[in-house]
Amino acid sequence: MTNQNNQEQTTPLTALQHDSFGYLNGELFVEGLSLAEIADKVPTPFYCYSAASIRNAYTLLSDRLEPTGASICFAVKASSNISVLRLLSELGSGMDIVSGGELERALAAGVSPSKIVFSGVGKTRAEIARALKAGIQQINVESCAELEVIRDVARNTGCRASVVFRVNPDVDAQTHAKISTGKKGDKFGIAIEDIPDIYAKAAEATGLDVAGLAVHIGSQLLDLSPYRAAYHRLATLVEALRSKGLSVPRLDLGGGLGIDYHLGVGPDVGEYSIIIQETVGHLGCELTVEPGRWLVGPAGMLVTEVLYLKETGDRVTAIVDAAMNDLMRPALYGAIHPVLPIKSCDDHAPYAYNIVGPVCETSDAFGSYCNLPKLHSGDRIAFACAGAYGASMASSYNSRDLVAEVLVDGDRFRLIRRRQTIDDLLALEKPTPMEHAFLRSRDC
Ligand code: LLP
Repeated sequence: MTNQNNQEQTTPLTALQHDSFGYLNGELFVEGLSLAEIADKVPTPFYCYSAASIRNAYTLLSDRLEPTGASICFAVKASSNISVLRLLSELGSGMDIVSGGELERALAAGVSPSKIVFSGVGKTRAEIARALKAGIQQINVESCAELEVIRDVARNTGCRASVVFRVNPDVDAQTHAKISTGKKGDKFGIAIEDIPDIYAKAAEATGLDVAGLAVHIGSQLLDLSPYRAAYHRLATLVEALRSKGLSVPRLDLGGGLGIDYHLGVGPDVGEYSIIIQETVGHLGCELTVEPGRWLVGPAGMLVTEVLYLKETGDRVTAIVDAAMNDLMRPALYGAIHPVLPIKSCDDHAPYAYNIVGPVCETSDAFGSYCNLPKLHSGDRIAFACAGAYGASMASSYNSRDLVAEVLVDGDRFRLIRRRQTIDDLLALEKPTPMEHAFLRSRDC
C-alpha cells in the first residue's frame, strides 16, 4: 500500500508470496495446477484463489491466537464469494459483515448467525431488523443515533439486540489515509471520551444486551505498534467502566493486519498475539478479531492476457484485458500488485513496462514494472496478492462484465463464480411488468 503508481515494482520473479504458488518447468502453478491450464479453460481476466493458502493462513493465525482465546470473524468485505466464506466457516471462522448483502452471503455460506458480528456506520432499519431476526451475535454500534434505531427496531420486532460499542480511540494506524479509521474526526466509532455515558445509559435500556466494546483502527497495518496503543486505551476504558459497576464481557479487536505486497509476508502474527495478551489479556474478556486481507490477500491472483504493446515515451506500454473495474486497488490507492508471468520465457533480460487496462481513464493503470521478461501479445500474466479487495471491489464500469472466480484445491479447480454476461447486466435495465404499467399510466 505504501507503493504508489509512480514507483517501480521491483519484486524478483522468484519471490513468490506463498508456497501454494510456484514455478515448475517454467510454468506458474497454483497448488497442483498450472495456471496456463486453467486459463485455457476459463477466459481471462479471472480471479484464481488457492484453498490451501487460505487454510494455511487461517490455521497459522488461529494457532498463534490460541493463547489469547480470541475467535476469528473473517471480514467478508475482503473476499465475499460464498465458496470462500464456506471454506473459512468450515475451518471455524465467524464473519464480520457490514451490510445486509454480506449477511445474506454469510448465511448462504452456512455460517451460524451466532458467529456473525455486524459493523458499519450506516446500517439501515431493514438491515438491523433482518440481523436481529436472524439472531446474529452482536451489532457493533457506531453512534448514539444508531443505538436509538436499534432499540426501536428491537422493540418493534420483539427481538433483543446484543450490542457492543465501537470506540474511536484516536490512534493513528500509520497506514494509507483512505483506510485509516481510528483517528479523532474519522467517521468511524464513538469518541472514546463519550463511551462511558452512552454505555451506562444503554446498560439500563430495555431490549438491549450491552456486551462490550469494539475497535478497528484501519487496514493494511505493517507496523503493529498502533494496535498496542489502541488496545491499551481500550483496556483503560474497560477498567473505567467496570469501576462504575458496568459489565464488559466482550471485546472485538477489529482487523487490519497487513500483508507485504512485495513478498506476501505480513507482520508477525505471533507478535500480534503477544500484543493482545499484554494489553487486554488480563481483563478476562471474550475476544474476537476481524482479519480480512491477511487471510485471503496472498491466496489470490488476477489472471490477465496481454492484448497489445505500444511505445509510450521511454517505455513500452502493455495493454492487458483486465482493468481498474476488475482490480480497483492500483487506481484507488496507488497500490502495486506484483506481476508474474504464467509461463517464463527464455529471454531473462529484465524489461520495463507500464501495464494498463482498456478502460477509458488514465487512472486505469496497474503501474510501472521494471523487471519483467519480454512480453508479447497473447501472453498471460498474473497480478499477485489480489485475493483481498479484488473481486469484492470490482464493478462493471465501461459495461465490462464482472469476471469469473476460480478456486483451486489440490489438483482440481472449481468455477466459484461464473463470469457475468452483458445479458445479466441488461436484464436489470429492462422494464419489469410493473414499470410497464407505470410508464403506460404516465402516457395517458
Ligand atoms: N473490521 C472492520 C470494521 C473493517 O472496517 C475492516 C476493513 C476489517 C475489519 C478488515 O480489515 P483487514 O483485516 O482486511 O485490513 N479496500 C481497502 C481496504 C478497506 C478496509 C476496510 N475495512 C484495500 O483494498 O486496501
